Amino acid sequence: MGVRILAINGSSRRESLNQKLLDIAAQGARDAGAEVTRARLADFDLPIYDGDFEAERGLPNGARKLQALVEMHHALLIATPEYNGGYTALLKNAIDWISRPRGDGSNGIALVAGKAAALVSASPGQLGGLRSQAGMRAVLDKLGMLVIPQAFALSMAHEAFDAKGQLKDSNATGLVAGVGEALYRMALRLA
Ligand SMILES: Cc1cc2nc3c(=O)[nH]c(=O)nc-3n(C[C@H](O)[C@H](O)[C@H](O)COP(=O)(O)O)c2cc1C
Repeated sequence: MGVRILAINGSSRRESLNQKLLDIAAQGARDAGAEVTRARLADFDLPIYDGDFEAERGLPNGARKLQALVEMHHALLIATPEYNGGYTALLKNAIDWISRPRGDGSNGIALVAGKAAALVSASPGQLGGLRSQAGMRAVLDKLGMLVIPQAFALSMAHEAFDAKGQLKDSNATGLVAGVGEALYRMALRLA
């Protein structure tokens, strides 16, 4: 069976360290046999969630598109950058919109519940975004996602990559790719 994984990053920065890390994890999933789609959250029309907006105008197009994308995939591979000890507003806002009821009345949470997820993070600090991962894990858990234990937090990330966006430490590369592979295996088992 073909396992489809959606890779999303909580940073839209052009030189995002989290995107580089996510790409390595995604390659690990691909090498294991998954089909990985990379979605850039900033490309979706996603205003900050507002209940009045939703009541008056329904879901924005970006939210509908993101929901449809999540529906097509078996698992989520998420890079969760750390801002002030937590996950980013970009990522949480996207998840909030995804969780909302769809235009046809079906449940947005049902799109993610029971699916697997894996987390990676990168930060110039010493903890590599671990606090962001802890917060994001709780959010995904609340939505019924099965967040696998395999994860990777890259500390001192501003010094960790070479000019080609590869990790200088080949041992770390194997661990990050292993997160993608483990997600593939869990998704396959659940499918
Ligand atoms: C508003 C803000 C708050 C931040 N807070 C933290 C933090 O609490 N812990 C941390 O490790 N890094 C923190 N950082 C540094 C980010 O981890 C760093 O900018 C990282 O490169 C962002 O991810 P990106 O490279 O994928 O864009 C913060 C950055 C910003 C802009």
